[in-house]
Amino acid sequence: MLQTGWSWSHSLKNYVLMFDLTSEEFCHPILDVAAGPSSFNVEMKRQGYKVVSSDPLYATSPDMIDIVTNNLINNLSEQIKSNPDRFHWGEEFSNPSELERQQRAMAEIFCHDYERGLKEKRYTADALPNLHFDDFQFSLALCANFIFDGPYANDLIFQMDSIHEMCRVAKEVRIYPLLDRSGQISPHLGPIIAELQMKDYGVEVREVPYQFVRHGNAMLRVFARNCPI
Ligand SMILES: C[S@@+](CC[C@H](N)C(=O)[O-])C[C@H]1O[C@@H](n2cnc3c(N)ncnc32)[C@H](O)[C@@H]1O
Repeated sequence: MLQTGWSWSHSLKNYVLMFDLTSEEFCHPILDVAAGPSSFNVEMKRQGYKVVSSDPLYATSPDMIDIVTNNLINNLSEQIKSNPDRFHWGEEFSNPSELERQQRAMAEIFCHDYERGLKEKRYTADALPNLHFDDFQFSLALCANFIFDGPYANDLIFQMDSIHEMCRVAKEVRIYPLLDRSGQISPHLGPIIAELQMKDYGVEVREVPYQFVRHGNAMLRVFARNCPI
């Protein structure tokens, strides 16, 4: 079935900036949740690192992935053109057409890798708030452009359950951005931080070098204080 909705297709370079990743962190197992048609996974593989990406999108058969991804990028382009003021045009992407061109280029890299990635179990069709992975299987779980600004932006329970599930499978979780669908800091951020601290997680809002999204230069880090491993 064709997916509707929209999806970003970010590159390794974008992920490094959104999550302030270091090359030392590349050496440990990374899970990319709600990963979409991004090229992060295959670019990391080419450099010898292992990333597992999960998204319900990956239930799509390989012969349909180009069509589905193309529709997602078309819808994203419409979203961007309707809200150009949400972004800093210049350094990262010069204008909406250039952004669309780069999104398509990254999505194409993903599509070429998709069938092989499914076979190698680098792409898995999980949907939050449930992940099929073992406890603390990963050092880092990354989640870009989904928790606060995706289809569940108004669903605090879904967001909390999803963050708990990511904390179950990874020693540290990073979520970007902290903005809701209107481009403002999510009103759920405070209650989520309070709840996580009450449950004894370490929590940090950290500035990141990604400058493209207006007011979107921060991520949430959540980490287990007591890790059994
Ligand atoms: C805006 S895209 C983000 C893609 C990627 N993280 C990036 O920033 O380039 C959001 C993704 O969330 C996925 N998604 C939708 N429902 C989901 C769920 N319940 N659990 C995990 N991912 C979901 C969509 O399929 C879509 O690919």
